[in-house]
This record gives sequence, C-alpha cells and structure tokens, in this order.
Amino acid sequence: MEKLNIEGGHFLKGKVCISGAKNSAVALIPAAILADSPVTIENLPNISDVHLLCDLIEEIGGTVSKQNGELTIDPSNIISMPLPNGKVKMLRASYYLMGAMLGRFKKAVIGLPGGCYLGPRPIDQHIKGFEALGATVTNEQGAVYLRADELRGARIYLDVVSVGATINIMLAAVLAKGQTIIENAAKEPEIIDVATLLTSMGARIKGAGTDIIRIDGVDALHGCRHTIIPDRIEAGTYMVIGAAMGEDLLIDNVIPQHVESLSAKLREMGVPIEVNDDQIYIRRAKQYKNVDIKTLVYPGFPTDLQQPMTALLTQADGTSVVTDTIYNARFKHLDELRRMGSGIKLEGSSAIISGPVTLQGAKVKATDLRAGAALVTAGLMAEGITEITGVEHIDRGYEDLVEKLQGLGAKIWREPLNVEELEQIHHS
Ligand code: EPU
Repeated sequence: MEKLNIEGGHFLKGKVCISGAKNSAVALIPAAILADSPVTIENLPNISDVHLLCDLIEEIGGTVSKQNGELTIDPSNIISMPLPNGKVKMLRASYYLMGAMLGRFKKAVIGLPGGCYLGPRPIDQHIKGFEALGATVTNEQGAVYLRADELRGARIYLDVVSVGATINIMLAAVLAKGQTIIENAAKEPEIIDVATLLTSMGARIKGAGTDIIRIDGVDALHGCRHTIIPDRIEAGTYMVIGAAMGEDLLIDNVIPQHVESLSAKLREMGVPIEVNDDQIYIRRAKQYKNVDIKTLVYPGFPTDLQQPMTALLTQADGTSVVTDTIYNARFKHLDELRRMGSGIKLEGSSAIISGPVTLQGAKVKATDLRAGAALVTAGLMAEGITEITGVEHIDRGYEDLVEKLQGLGAKIWREPLNVEELEQIHHS
C-alpha cells in the first residue's frame, strides 16, 4: 500500500489533458453486455473502477481486449452468471450490471454495490424502475435477485432525480417490448453519453439530457464504436487546483459547458478563466472573494466538486458556506482539512469555512475519492509536506494523477506505507 506525499507551495504551469469520464465509463462497460457483437470504446480512463468492471465482464464470459487506448468488449459468450459477491461489492457502479443483465437475460443476481461512503445511498428508484418494467426483485443476503418472464415498456416517474436509476432503467428498457417513458430523469452529460452508445448499438432513445426520456424497445442490439466524453469532474478538479496554484494552467480536452457552474463560481471568487472550444486557461487569483455554494443536480453545482472547492475556499476572505443537498454527509474531508489548520465548521449539511488561512502540511487520510481530491488540492497549497493515505480511493477515479500534476511542476510522489502506518490502517 502506498501514500501520496506533496510538498506544497509550488506554482503550476503547463497543459493537462483530461481523460475519459469515469462516471460514463462505468456505465458504458456494462451497457456493452446488451450487444450481440463487439463494442469498442475509445479513451476509457485507466482507473481501478474500470479495471474492476472489465474483470467482472470477463468473470461472466465476456472478452475484453485493450489496444492503443481503446477497449473492445465482446459480449457474445456472456452468460447470466450470478455475481452475489466479490468484485461487485468493491464499486458503486456494479449496480449497472443489474439493468444490463436483466435487459439481456431477463434475470440477474448482483451483490449490493460498494463504493465511496457518502451517507446512505439507496437504490430504491432503480428497483422501482425494474419492477415497473415487469421484473420481480428481491433482496436476499446482500444480493439483489431480478427475474422477469418478459420486460414490457412502462411509464416511470422517478421520485428522486438519480443518475444511476436513470441509466439503469435505460439499460433494462432498450430491449423491452414497447415504449418506456422515464419522467423526472437525471440530465447529467453521462446519461447522454450512455444513450449515444446505446443508440449506436441500435437502440431507440429520445430525450436523453432532458427530464423526459422515451425509449422504444428493439429486438436486438449490435456492436459499435464509441468515443467517451471527457471527465467533467476531473476537469473541474484541475480547475480548482489551477485556481489555487496555477500560473497559466491549460486544461485540454474539456467540454466547457459541462463545467459552467464551477466556472461561474470561480469567476465570482475572482479567479481569471478563459474558455476556448475545448480548453480552459486558469490562473490563481491575488485575493479570493468568499462565495456560497449549494450542490444540485446537473446543470447545478456538482456534489463531486464540493469537496475540492471547500479546500480552495479556505483561501477566501471571510466566510463561505457550502451546502450539499445531494449527499448531506459528504463531509468527512473536513476533519482532515482541520488537521491542516483550516477553520471549518460543519452545521447540518453545510460546511462553514472561514478564511483566509495558511494551510500546514499534515498526515491526512482520503476517506473517499473526492475527499482525496480535496486533500491533494490542500496539500498543493499548504506549507511543508502533506502525506495522504487512502490513495486507493483516489486511484478509483483519477487517471495518472501524480504524473499529470508532476507534468505541471507539482512536487508530488508516491511512497510505500511504513510499518507504523500499515498497523494504523489495520487497526482502524
Ligand atoms: N437516491 C435515492 N434512491 C435511489 C437513487 C438515488 O434516494 O434509488 C438519492 C441518493 O441517495 C442521492 C441522490 O438520490 O441523495 C442522487 O443520487 P444518484 O443516484 O444520482 O447518484 P449515483 O448515481 O449513485 C452518481 C455518481 C456519483 C455522483 C452522483 C451525483 C456514478 C457511478 N456515480 O452516483 O459520483 O456523486 O451520481 O451526481 O455515476 C463520484 O464520482 O465521486 C461519485 C460519487
């Protein structure tokens, strides 16, 4: 096991290229199960969540081959094998195997998903959708059992706007008989990306990216080639890092519209940003104005960028309030930021941040993926050395984080954990 060490205080310049979107990738891979011939996906990020899903595809009989940055999944020999345990428990997005396996085989057994702990993360809306399509769903010993004689299109109103439920219902509905209408659907760019792949496979989907999605079931889906969208959360993370420590940082391969809510907030703070077609230039500000942030569903401010933003806001003059309305317990990073000297209080689902403060390097722990991004941001700004454990969370979602930051001039490196640190992890 490793930790990340960062010597803070070095300004960053140069170009960083954004990878394919993690939250698209983890849905596109299961979506390939629905085809009857190979699906090739270009620009998949090299992250552990993608590796886990590829392993799961192989476990159920699929073939996965990688060549020149593209991944081909041949689903022809996939069987409806139960996956109640093992790797499905290691990531959140394994829940997409439910929709995809149900769609193709009309049955599936998938263990309840793992992933980052951000407070309760129910999947009741996924289940509601599967049941509306005609499936019987039971939960036995930590696994979800799904079975249907046939899937029939239905009108499904989501009580909660959910990215995962919207995608999972699309996956189950594309091969159902008749029309499915998802109302109050999530509108995130990743949903459009999945719909684009499914459409290239022969599915008939209208309205992805709006809150009403119409799916006309087809009899079969075929292989295709698809290029994944850039990761808006990775781009946003580098924007926050650039706002903190950038001297002309160029973020390449980004869809600026996808990060508009963040750009607007950074501008409000006084951060200079210039936007080109698929690039963003960003520099740190001399002084940062305090701002308030409320996380919302897309196109509102993303919950996934709330954590790195709280780190940046320790540098703003006065008090900033960050409220997470999507995951009201997504604040474990605050304890760690406090170790680094920040004055942050937690009141309900709001972080109250008083600044500016000079952060000090410390030994801290990434408790989840974006908490890790927050600590990396803080470490780059801090005086002295910051040591971050829990790197495996960061590796789930950021391709080549260390190499990309080193390329910008950051002093960041990996180091094996020493005996004492290993013991601490063992006892925690
Ligand atoms: N919710 C329910 N019932 C459900 C589903 C969701 O009550 O059946 C609630 C959740 O508890 C949450 C809200 O609805 O309060 C939104 O959850 P959503 O289903 O949209 O989240 P998700 O699909 O499980 C995805 C991303 C998350 C991201 C959220 C919100 C993936 C694999 N994960 O999760 O990404 O935070 O949408 O945008 O796509 C991350 O990348 O770090 C990450 C956690």
